[in-house]
Amino acid sequence: MSARVPRGDAGGYFRTKSVEQSIRDTEEPDHALNKSLSALDLTVFGVGVVIGTGIFVLTGQIARNTAGPAVALAFLAAGLVCALAALCYAEFASTVPVAGSAYTFAYASLGELPAWIIGWDLMLELALGCAVVAVGWSGYVRSLMDNVGWHLPARLSGGEADGVGFDLLAFVLVLVITGVLVAGMKLSARITSLIVAVKVGVVVLVIVAGAFFIEVDNWRPFVPPAEGTADRGSGLAAPLIQVMFGYEPTTFGVQGIFTAAAVVFFAFIGFDIVATAAEETRDPQRDVPRGLLGSLVVCTVLYVAVSLVVTGMEKYTRLTVDAPLADAFKATGHPFYAGLISFGAAVGLTTVCLILLLGQSRVFFAMSRDGLLPRTFSRVHPHYGTPYRSTVLLGVVVAVIAGFTSLSELAELVNIGTLFAFVVVAVGVVVLRHTRPDLPRAFRTPLVPALPIASVLASLWLMLNLPTETWLRFGAWMLVGTVIYFAYGRAHSRLGAAKDRAD
Ligand code: ALA
Repeated sequence: MSARVPRGDAGGYFRTKSVEQSIRDTEEPDHALNKSLSALDLTVFGVGVVIGTGIFVLTGQIARNTAGPAVALAFLAAGLVCALAALCYAEFASTVPVAGSAYTFAYASLGELPAWIIGWDLMLELALGCAVVAVGWSGYVRSLMDNVGWHLPARLSGGEADGVGFDLLAFVLVLVITGVLVAGMKLSARITSLIVAVKVGVVVLVIVAGAFFIEVDNWRPFVPPAEGTADRGSGLAAPLIQVMFGYEPTTFGVQGIFTAAAVVFFAFIGFDIVATAAEETRDPQRDVPRGLLGSLVVCTVLYVAVSLVVTGMEKYTRLTVDAPLADAFKATGHPFYAGLISFGAAVGLTTVCLILLLGQSRVFFAMSRDGLLPRTFSRVHPHYGTPYRSTVLLGVVVAVIAGFTSLSELAELVNIGTLFAFVVVAVGVVVLRHTRPDLPRAFRTPLVPALPIASVLASLWLMLNLPTETWLRFGAWMLVGTVIYFAYGRAHSRLGAAKDRAD
């Protein structure tokens, strides 16, 4: 294996894996994935994972509590932050079309320790994100079941009945999608396309049908005046930026739009997963950038439109928190639409979980192929051509987390983990331009280094708008990861072994 070790890096923490080596590894027998996806498959994957809990739940919650009708601007701001990151991801994915996304990019540009850190960090986005969405899905399904008179016992509904809550539906969902993923990419893509069509259809229905019920007065004031807050604004629940600069905590107003953007960012999580499927794409140089930017544009337009329609249909102060889209239609006397929306949400969230878990299994696969995790997890199935061992292990762990943990407060941890990956990828683009200017780049990020720097600053800005307690949890998780690297990964790294042989 070819390793580059920068001068002065005696520990080898910043040894990088050459891009050529990463591409060669994908051709190893027993460790190579099928190349079967097209740009359209990737866009469908992107939209399939991106549209989910964020638009179906957060819209109402954030309009009501943090931003008013200006939640549409919060979606736009979060979409712009993602677009900057997408332009960086696109260059990387077209240069290093190898499973593992930000992890692989970091290994090629920044070195082994940063790569490990980012791989560990991605578990927050992918595995924890999957568990959070599975729990949200189970809520929608239970409410649909309640409509037809089927009730699950409280102890199987994820509540805190007698202090023990087991979320049976979330648990089963994760196990089922694990089976689908083991059976192969093409099968997953087919199921996904069907479900994505239902989900996008429902979102378009909300926009088109809802537009007839808009009362322009509901948008006034569009940016409600800033208010001091007693609950969210103090202690560890306050955004870090307020704690750092000690200014008076507020909601609504212009600051409210940024606080809202940091939270609704969750609605965009997943578009970067398109890059994790680069290795399974027929023409990654051309199709990955198209898939990334395509899914992002589609989602941003839909989110802004849905936010405008929903806040136009009902005064933001009256929006409900659990099912705002469906309830806005109920409030205008159209329960039929409401049922359809709940159905679309329940169907649509399954693909979000599926693709988050797919992305996670591929990152885990790449880390194991490099020896930073046990190599056995990177064997692919002799018949299905999928990394079945890592998929099954992760599926079971995520199912248990989704089944037994109360997760709502952990959703912001998913956001911070993803934003941190954006920062690393943007830095990596600039570094790789310097260290490997010779590499063919089918897609070049425009305005380097200005655009990656803007991407880093924008991602950091959203991170700072997240609660202090989220930062503390994030720090603890990263500390655990660093300990594991020193206890296992460093000694088992294939790159490290190759370097030792070369010395
Ligand atoms: N973006 C995904 C969602 O909104 C994670 O559910």
